[in-house]
Amino acid sequence: MNAGTRPPPRPSARVPGTSPRRVARAKPALERRRRRAKPDVVKERREAVITIDGPAGAGKSTAARELARRLGYRLIDTGALYRGLAWRVREAKVDPGDEAALERLLAEITIDLQDGAVLVNGRDVTGELRTPEIGELTSRISTLAAVREKVTPIQRRLAATGGAVLEGRDTGSVVCPDAEVKFYLDASPEVRAVRRRRELEARGTHVEAEEVRAEIRRRDRQDMKRGLAPLVVPEGAVVIDSTGRSVEQIVQVMLEEVARHGCCTRS
Ligand code: C5P
Repeated sequence: MNAGTRPPPRPSARVPGTSPRRVARAKPALERRRRRAKPDVVKERREAVITIDGPAGAGKSTAARELARRLGYRLIDTGALYRGLAWRVREAKVDPGDEAALERLLAEITIDLQDGAVLVNGRDVTGELRTPEIGELTSRISTLAAVREKVTPIQRRLAATGGAVLEGRDTGSVVCPDAEVKFYLDASPEVRAVRRRRELEARGTHVEAEEVRAEIRRRDRQDMKRGLAPLVVPEGAVVIDSTGRSVEQIVQVMLEEVARHGCCTRS
């Protein structure tokens, strides 16, 4: 080095505004902004999207909740979003057959899932959604294109950052067809009716066994035969029959499949 020349200044250890604390605080904000910038892009995520489809009473909710808990993923109960919409249709006394009225209602409604709660126009309606009446209305309105066009993008936005377990009727076939891991959970109609009844009883709703069986048969028919997003086994899905299997056994099968795909977890 020539006498008189100074070595180039070393980069300052502290550029103003980048103290370690500020950087540490700025990172999550940057990350959030980056994720918000492309809400529909599901490719740039670190963690997986897992879908669980299947008919009513197959045990999807319980398995999905437990799987999400074990993986440290968010749970996206897609049926709850449709039920939230049905709740509003009923509250607003809109005839689901009146297309124009329904479209007006869809235009003013906001539905969101926050920490497991269903918010309809900002109001928490979670406790009012699991009645047979709302179930039937949901099944009816979810056959309509305008309704699915409203709800599907909400589900995609919720799943866009990855680290999510979606459960419903078309999560692996329509909502997230590029999900890393897909399951289709099924069970015999008898077992499904017993589970459904237990679920309703646990929520304080007493329904006769035959009524539950009839409700399941009706909803199966409606969900499988509808033209839009019918209940199907999604391409590439692992089919699990939950008849005679405990939740723990089902979740174990799922965790093995998730591990086989090398998906990362938060826990
Ligand atoms: O899963 P859950 O019983 O809450 O769903 C209620 C109804 O919502 C289903 O019977 C189905 O008609 C509709 N649904 C749907 N697509 C989904 C989830 C639910 O059409 N992804």
